[in-house]
Amino acid sequence: MSETDKDVPELEFSEKYTDEHAREYYHKHNKTGSLWRRISNWREIVIARKALKLAGNPSAVLDLPSGTGRFWEMLAEKKDRKLFAADYNPSMYTVGMEERPKEITSRFETFQASAFDIPKPDNFVESIFCMRLLHHIGERDDRMKMFREFHRVTSDTVLISLWVDGNVKARKRFAKEAKRDKKKYQNRFVQPRERVEAEMREAGFDIVDHVDFLKHYAMWRIYILRKKS
Ligand SMILES: C[S@@+](CC[C@H](N)C(=O)[O-])C[C@H]1O[C@@H](n2cnc3c(N)ncnc32)[C@H](O)[C@@H]1O
Repeated sequence: MSETDKDVPELEFSEKYTDEHAREYYHKHNKTGSLWRRISNWREIVIARKALKLAGNPSAVLDLPSGTGRFWEMLAEKKDRKLFAADYNPSMYTVGMEERPKEITSRFETFQASAFDIPKPDNFVESIFCMRLLHHIGERDDRMKMFREFHRVTSDTVLISLWVDGNVKARKRFAKEAKRDKKKYQNRFVQPRERVEAEMREAGFDIVDHVDFLKHYAMWRIYILRKKS
């Protein structure tokens, strides 16, 4: 498919990341966050590092959406890794670049991209690293578009985080959702594991493994996907 004839979904949540929000996001996660947020950030980085290892420690990684670069120090731990960071809202990576030392930022090449339409050729990068986007995507068609675009752009693996069912927090959330006003805008979704895994396979991936934030309790999970040969 050419880059121009893609039907790119517009998600309402994508528009909230203004310059001001970007700076807030950076500080919330890096500087002034609560103790719980700092622990959670630390744990997410630990499981992301493990996921990269399970993917074979790729030597070229595209962080999409990069946000303000929460994972950049960890991604840069491998000294010879080629690094790219992209986001739909350039304010996000711009703030991340402004706030970090040169020794980290000089490792990254940044560009604007929608996860549904990445302005790069087929097999551009060995691994796509996609944290905290999929739980915002409630429609199957949109998820399939994103999985297929990732399949086109990666030459090997995709690491992707999402909220899954089958744990204490998801059960609590489903109970809360059952009571909420159905007409109210919803921007975060728990994915039933069987359904989302079937979609990943349908898009052309094998599921290599997964890593949980806190097994049986938390909803966050990172899947390690590999293009079917
Ligand atoms: C919750 S943040 C996660 C950022 C980063 N991965 C992290 O974990 O800190 C979601 C990010 O998705 C970006 N975003 C929203 N819609 C997008 C889209 N269609 N394609 C790519 N990025 C998008 C936002 O600009 C924002 O930076």
